[in-house]
Amino acid sequence: MAGRTHLVTGSASGIGRATRELLESRGDRVIGVDVHDADLVRDLSDPEHRAGLRADVAALAPDGLDAVHAVAGVNLPGPLTARVNYFGAVATLRELRPLLAKSPAPAAVAVASFATLMPPDEPLLAALRAEDEPGAVAAAEALADRGQGVLVYPTSKRALAEWVRERSVTPEWAGAGIPLNAVAPGVIRTPMTAELLATPESRDALFQQVPAPLNGAAEPAAVAGLLAWLTSAENRHVTGQVIFSDSGAEATLRGPHIFG
Ligand SMILES: NC(=O)c1ccc[n+]([C@@H]2O[C@H](COP(=O)([O-])OP(=O)(O)OC[C@H]3O[C@@H](n4cnc5c(N)ncnc54)[C@H](O)[C@@H]3O)[C@@H](O)[C@H]2O)c1
Repeated sequence: MAGRTHLVTGSASGIGRATRELLESRGDRVIGVDVHDADLVRDLSDPEHRAGLRADVAALAPDGLDAVHAVAGVNLPGPLTARVNYFGAVATLRELRPLLAKSPAPAAVAVASFATLMPPDEPLLAALRAEDEPGAVAAAEALADRGQGVLVYPTSKRALAEWVRERSVTPEWAGAGIPLNAVAPGVIRTPMTAELLATPESRDALFQQVPAPLNGAAEPAAVAGLLAWLTSAENRHVTGQVIFSDSGAEATLRGPHIFG
C-alpha cells in the first residue's frame, strides 16, 4: 500500500531519523516530532506538550495516520529518562491511537531496548506500572541521589515493553485491528552510543554487557527496516511482541530455555 502516513517521534537523530529516511524513500509521508529539527517541535517530557499532541498532529494530518512510531528516548541517569522513555512514549501511543481509526491497515510500534532484560529498580518500576509520574520522578531522583541513576533507563524500557504487551491485546488495539509491538535494539551506532563505542576499552565493556555475535554494532537503518515492516500494511497478525534487534545479545544471554 503506497502513500502511508507515519508519525515518528525522535525523528531528528539516530533510529528515528533513519526510519524517517527509509519510509520517505519508499514514498510514504512522515510527520516527525522532536525537540529540534522536526515538523512538530515538541518536548515529550512535558505533560502539556503530550496533552496537545493529538490536536497538533491532527492539524497536520486531517485524514489521520496509518502508523505511529514512538522512538524518542534519552539515556541519562535521572528523572528525565523516565519522563521521555516511558511517559512520553505511552502518551504518543495513547494520544495518537484515535488518529489511526480511519486507516485500512493501522499499526503502532515503540522502541524499547535490550536493557529491558536488565534488572530494574523495583520502586521505580512500580510507579511506572501505575502510571504515577510524580512517584516515578521521585523514585528516579532517589536513584540519582544514591548514585544508581543508571537503573532509570533499563527500568523505563522494561515498563514500556510491559505496557505494549499488556495493551496490545485489548479492545482498543487488537480489537480495533491495530498491531502494537516493541522493538528492543542492542548496540546501534547513534549519538546515544557514540561515547561508548569511541575507545576499544569502552567498546569491550559494552559488548561484555550486550554481546553482538552477529555482525557487531548495527547501523540505525537496521532497526528502521524492522520498524517499517511492523508498521506496514503487511503486518496484520504480529502483535504484543518485543522483538530483539540486537545482533544476538538476547539469544546469547538467555539461551534456548525461555519458553513455558
Ligand atoms: N542506540 C542504541 O544502541 C539504542 C539501543 C537500544 C534502544 N535505543 C533506543 O532507541 C531510541 C532512539 O535512540 P537513538 O539511539 O536513535 O538516539 P538519538 O539520541 O540519536 O535519538 C534520540 C532522539 O530523541 C529525541 N528526543 C530526546 N528527548 C526528547 C523529548 N523530550 N521530546 C522529543 N524528542 C526527544 C532526540 O532529540 C533525538 O533526536 C531511544 O528510545 C533509545 O532508548 C537505542
